[in-house]
Amino acid sequence: MASATASIASHTIVCRDRRATTQIGAVRHLNLVSTISQSNSTRRLTVGQLHAVEPGKRAEAVVAPTAVSSGAVAEVEKKVEEASALPPVNYEKLAAQLEYASPLEIMDKALEMFGDEIAIAFSGAEDVALIEYAKLTGRPFRVFSLDTGRLDPETYEFFDKVEKHYGIRIEYMFPDAGEVQALVRTKGLFSFYEDGHQECCRVRKVRPLRRALKGLQAWITGQRKDQSPGTRASIPVVQVDPSFEGIGGGAGSLIKWNPVANVDGKDIWNFLRTMDVPVNSLHSKGYVSIGCQPCTRPVLPGQHEREGRWWWEDAKAKECGLHKGNISQDEAEKAGTNGSVSTLNGTADIFETKNIVNLSRSGIENLLKLENRAEPWIVVLYAPWCPFCQGMEASYVELADVLSGSGVKVGKFRADGDQKPFAQNELQLRSFPTIIFFPKHASRPIKYPSEQRDVNSLLAFINALR
Ligand code: ADX
Ligand code: SF4
Repeated sequence: MASATASIASHTIVCRDRRATTQIGAVRHLNLVSTISQSNSTRRLTVGQLHAVEPGKRAEAVVAPTAVSSGAVAEVEKKVEEASALPPVNYEKLAAQLEYASPLEIMDKALEMFGDEIAIAFSGAEDVALIEYAKLTGRPFRVFSLDTGRLDPETYEFFDKVEKHYGIRIEYMFPDAGEVQALVRTKGLFSFYEDGHQECCRVRKVRPLRRALKGLQAWITGQRKDQSPGTRASIPVVQVDPSFEGIGGGAGSLIKWNPVANVDGKDIWNFLRTMDVPVNSLHSKGYVSIGCQPCTRPVLPGQHEREGRWWWEDAKAKECGLHKGNISQDEAEKAGTNGSVSTLNGTADIFETKNIVNLSRSGIENLLKLENRAEPWIVVLYAPWCPFCQGMEASYVELADVLSGSGVKVGKFRADGDQKPFAQNELQLRSFPTIIFFPKHASRPIKYPSEQRDVNSLLAFINALR
């Protein structure tokens, strides 16, 4: 895991294959018009200009120019070439440089660098400050929100108020209906009180977030160090996202900005009051941190804000998965391997679909022994607590769907805890996740060498070997 993290410490901002932005989570295609809009991303538009769109139409429509001349195309090609030649950005260094910058300055830098391929993640609480800062930069900006279906009525009303106040459309992300249905039909509406919030959060928040982020190069969050002593005490103002993938795919393809990381809660509130920003009416009822209705409650004077979230669980590691990279590997591994659900409550299994075979130790040993197999196999060695495994879950499930009936079997083997030494010695496990391919006519599995874990890259690997 350490090596994966180290290798993503820097990242080239301007990718060779910048793609069109349609909307968060949508499939994108290479498109020169959008490349032009990217090249113009340093040009400032006023908020008035950006939002002078018909209600219901997306702001990007205004950002993208309508006509493309051949001169403009040549200019873009030149800029793309120049940009490709730029050295990669070292985000650790940039974070150190911006450590004492104001949130406004950090926001400005983020929007300047990423244009319309960055968006603010807005929870419907005091992180409305991010939207105010974005407005103050004078640059165009996008906002998305994860509508879990379990938010308070006050939060929905607040979303509406924010849209009207700023003249924006929030790009809502919804959970997959089938997944919610399966969860609720099997476990009921309040399973999180019994077996922890991770499973429900994964369906209602994390997977929709993953979809949203796959359409972006960067995102902006309202995380602050003072929000959670257990997990957020050392978040930087900008970082290579340790858990999620962006549009380019693979580890290191997404940048995460936390412009208010170093701001105290009370200073956020001073700012909101001074700027006369609308706020969620739940705050006046004793709520500080606000999430879903069944999992959030008001706190008493002197209580820490996090005590109002998932109050029935361990106080130190309350992350729902949106910011799981904040949890150290040690903590995660402890929770994952000792079978305790008290720290993360989150060892619910992953890659669970009918098209992925769950291999036992003897199952994978049998695969290893065979010289000739009836079918080739692709197998992921994983640990359910590992954020990188969780990060590739959607691609791997999709891969299994694509390969279903194709003659290639797709499997998973949980390789942490007691199985780790075996997986390290026999299956080439170095870090999670490791993907191995068992060809039809060879005994030794072949390790997938890349960190690109999108469906197309995995398919290319399989097709090259089958
Ligand atoms: S959580 O992980 O515990 O739910 P928290 O409520 O502290 O997160 O919010 C921290 C940041 O995560 C927010 O400022 C926001 O950027 C992002 N976030 C949290 N919930 C949502 C949501 N429902 N939609 C979009 N972003 C969210
Ligand atoms: Fe489900 Fe509660 Fe998580 Fe919302 S916060 S997604 S209701 S477990």
